[in-house]
Amino acid sequence: MAKQIQIAIDGPAGAGKSTIAKIVAEKLNFTYIDTGAMYRAVTHKAMQQNIQLDDSDALENMLSATKIELQPSTNGQLVYVDGVNVSDVIRSNEVTANVSQVAAHANIREVLVAMQQQLAAGGAVVMDGRDIATHVLIDAELKVFMSASVEERARRRHLDNERRGIESSIERLQEEIALRDKLDSEREASPLIQAVDAVYLDTTNLTIDEAADAILKLAQDVM
Ligand code: CDP
Ligand code: CDP
Repeated sequence: MAKQIQIAIDGPAGAGKSTIAKIVAEKLNFTYIDTGAMYRAVTHKAMQQNIQLDDSDALENMLSATKIELQPSTNGQLVYVDGVNVSDVIRSNEVTANVSQVAAHANIREVLVAMQQQLAAGGAVVMDGRDIATHVLIDAELKVFMSASVEERARRRHLDNERRGIESSIERLQEEIALRDKLDSEREASPLIQAVDAVYLDTTNLTIDEAADAILKLAQDVM
């Protein structure tokens, strides 16, 4: 029988992490856990409550009174905050623009990382984020750092928006993505960085299936 391993996928926005992690999880019959959704959920609730996003104590107080639940679904993962399904609203441009500021607080990360580790206990998970291989699942059997050129990542996000009927410009998206990459990579608490034992996968010129196959092959080697 295949081993119940942990697969950690990190990388910048638009690299293809969630799309490919979902496919890999489905093929292996593992659970997919999108950790970015948790940071987005906290950001969404803080914005709704008009909490200053630079006030780490206020954010921590809010989080301690918040119930975040992840539910695997056929479409990947649903996110509930205090019993309300926020899976779509946490993808708004407003949340996207603010999430890196919230995710920079060490105290918020500590709480969410503990939840993520609990969810992954026992293995058979594919988890994606920014610090999975370096902090959350440091013993993961397979670690992948996925990237693509910033131009390609902006082009993909633009196509995503088109499909959802949202207007956007590739140039603007490229600036936004580059800013988020910078904030995520330069923060003090668990910055986005490739783990020394992670495999680098550049998806710029790969189709979704090619990228998923590459990870499935790597997984087979350690199962
Ligand atoms: O899907 P996309 O790449 O746009 O972002 P996401 O995975 O939903 O993550 C949103 C934001 O949450 C990132 O830009 C990071 O600021 C933060 N994040 C993090 O700090 N650590 C993680 N493990 C996951 C996300
Ligand atoms: O999770 P992350 O932000 O890394 O990226 P994503 O949301 O999974 O992917 C962004 C978009 O790029 C999605 O529409 C994917 O279908 C697309 N994509 C692609 O066209 N080719 C790839 N090799 C990977 C993703």
